[in-house]
Amino acid sequence: MDRNRSHVKGLKSAWDETTFPFGGLCTTHEGRPLLVTYDLARLRKSMSPADLGRRAPDMWRYAELLPAGDNPISLGEVMTPVLPCPRLGKRLGLNNLYIKDESRLPTGSFKSRGMAVAITMASGLGVQHVALPSAGNAGGAAAAYAARAGLACTVFLPADTPLVNVRECAQLGARVYLVNGLIHDCGAIVRAGAERLGWFDLSTMHEPYRLEGKKTMGLELAEQFGWTLPDVILYPTGGGTGLIGMWKAFSELRELGWLRSPKLPRMIACQAAGCAPLVAAFAAGDRHGIAPQHPHTVASGLRVPQGIGDFMVLDAVRASGGMALATEDEELLAWAREAGALEGLSICPETGACLAVLKTLVKEDRIHPDEKVVVFNTAAAQKYVEAMDVDLPRIDPSNVPWSEIS
Ligand SMILES: Cc1ncc(COP(=O)(O)O)c(C=O)c1O
Repeated sequence: MDRNRSHVKGLKSAWDETTFPFGGLCTTHEGRPLLVTYDLARLRKSMSPADLGRRAPDMWRYAELLPAGDNPISLGEVMTPVLPCPRLGKRLGLNNLYIKDESRLPTGSFKSRGMAVAITMASGLGVQHVALPSAGNAGGAAAAYAARAGLACTVFLPADTPLVNVRECAQLGARVYLVNGLIHDCGAIVRAGAERLGWFDLSTMHEPYRLEGKKTMGLELAEQFGWTLPDVILYPTGGGTGLIGMWKAFSELRELGWLRSPKLPRMIACQAAGCAPLVAAFAAGDRHGIAPQHPHTVASGLRVPQGIGDFMVLDAVRASGGMALATEDEELLAWAREAGALEGLSICPETGACLAVLKTLVKEDRIHPDEKVVVFNTAAAQKYVEAMDVDLPRIDPSNVPWSEIS
């Protein structure tokens, strides 16, 4: 694989810091995630943010800070916009609210970032067949990038996964299985299948490269704000790869000396009350998620009762001075719709959870009205047609009830 710009140095266990050489297919160490490390001292001497100026506006502009090299498997990723949201901000009591809209990426969610890097790596290392468990959006993204790379892809989804996610995986050529269980039941099938059938396991945090792709959310945000960071970031957190990835991005940028202020944002991990293992652990002072008995939420991406990177999310949230909070399904759906109606953005239920949590934090004076706040919209609302159900009046064109029409 051509890796000419990448400054990748090696791999390191996130659990006990054991180091490993870079290269070859890798999974976990002692059942916990591996992290990619970079030669930041060398990069600091040879590059400055100004060098990015002439590059295409996509995630591959950060090639030095990615493992993938200069020939990625791409579906035309864009740098997603960070949009000021004054009307929604006013409703929430904030003067400086932004949404970074990840729904613009291929397959309509931020999962493309991780899959673009993971599939580039897997394909470059000779993998023929990838498999993964998914809450929905990761499956669609994996199917798309696997197709683009010419790889076979098998996806296991909980049977109650939103219909669009299920059909999208099939439409993009994946073999799709609906499982009577939760995402970790799907994960167990993938791991068994990897042994029996030789699939490469793309489960979140079970290989180190999806995280690197998601890291680009943080790199992009910093660049879009002129190498400064907001005061607060709210992120809908399931397994937590996005939050961990952003935190890793910020620490790499700080070490490179690219940030104009060393102050990092408070990271708020937002979950749904029906499945909030990290919120329970945060409140209890634990370092590992506390799995709920009967996980349930309409925000399917947040239906992750346990994840092997749980301690990494909780460490990042605590180090940042942030917190983990949850909200009820009714609230998150109402906020997703309200934000859409106020700002014209297609907000997924998972991000609705962030908005509901934000309302609470502003009300409790834990976020000041003038602070710069960024919410991540991780997917497009239209992927959740079941959750968008509305009762609409039906009219007869020969008898229009004008007195009821506004
Ligand atoms: C729309 C959406 N938001 C957020 C998440 C949670 O992602 P993470 O694994 O980064 O916590 C998911 C995961 O499936 C998702 O689909």
